[in-house]
Amino acid sequence: MKASHRIIISDIDNTLLGDAKALAEFINYLEKNRDSIKFGIATGRHLESAIAVLEKWQVPTPDFFITSVGSQIHNAAKEPDENWLKHINYCWKPDEIRDYLSQFKGLNLQADINQSEFKISYFADQNFDKLELPYAANVIYSHGEFLDILPVRASKGLAVCYLAKSMGLPMTQIMVAGDSGNDKEMLTNEGIGIVVGNYSIELESLKNKKGIYFAKSPYAAGILEGIKYFAW
Ligand code: GLC
Ligand code: MG
Repeated sequence: MKASHRIIISDIDNTLLGDAKALAEFINYLEKNRDSIKFGIATGRHLESAIAVLEKWQVPTPDFFITSVGSQIHNAAKEPDENWLKHINYCWKPDEIRDYLSQFKGLNLQADINQSEFKISYFADQNFDKLELPYAANVIYSHGEFLDILPVRASKGLAVCYLAKSMGLPMTQIMVAGDSGNDKEMLTNEGIGIVVGNYSIELESLKNKKGIYFAKSPYAAGILEGIKYFAW
């Protein structure tokens, strides 16, 4: 990849998807700029679920997939990045964490399909934004409803930094877009961030932060608005 390349990394649900017409315009923008702009997704979904929904909405295959809230990275051929898995497998105590969290009444484990080696996910029926774990881990609360526990070295934001580094790109050539709590870390990276108009409350605290643009338009129209704003 040439150093002049730029990358747009978008969350899927309620960011890329939600407005079919705007999505078509965004895809058109990507196709026109294919030689200079790479496209990646960063989602809470697991890989198969991400692929299925992108196919359903006829989104072209991304150049890479950050899935399960950053606990997995795959290339366009859907091969896993084994180095990433080795890197995040650090101080990770999933059994102890599950045991510890079983004492919290408002937390219910999500279905098995949403659990993976490096992601423990719950439905949270109250605000767990401030939950502190007595273990090294990343606690990520989103949509006022989901709570994900990841290894301390894993998150969408850390996965984006890792990819930038492995591609030899400065963070300033990376634009990310998101709508909810699990996007917060990647939005506060050094690169450029777009918060779409339909964002959820967890992102309110990012208002007025340098390098982050709050679009007025929702979904993919918000991404396009940000692209214009930053003159990409
Ligand atoms: C997706 C995942 C779920 C996770 C949520 C928030 O919906 O399926 O497991 O909790 O994103 O990150
Ligand atoms: Mg989202």
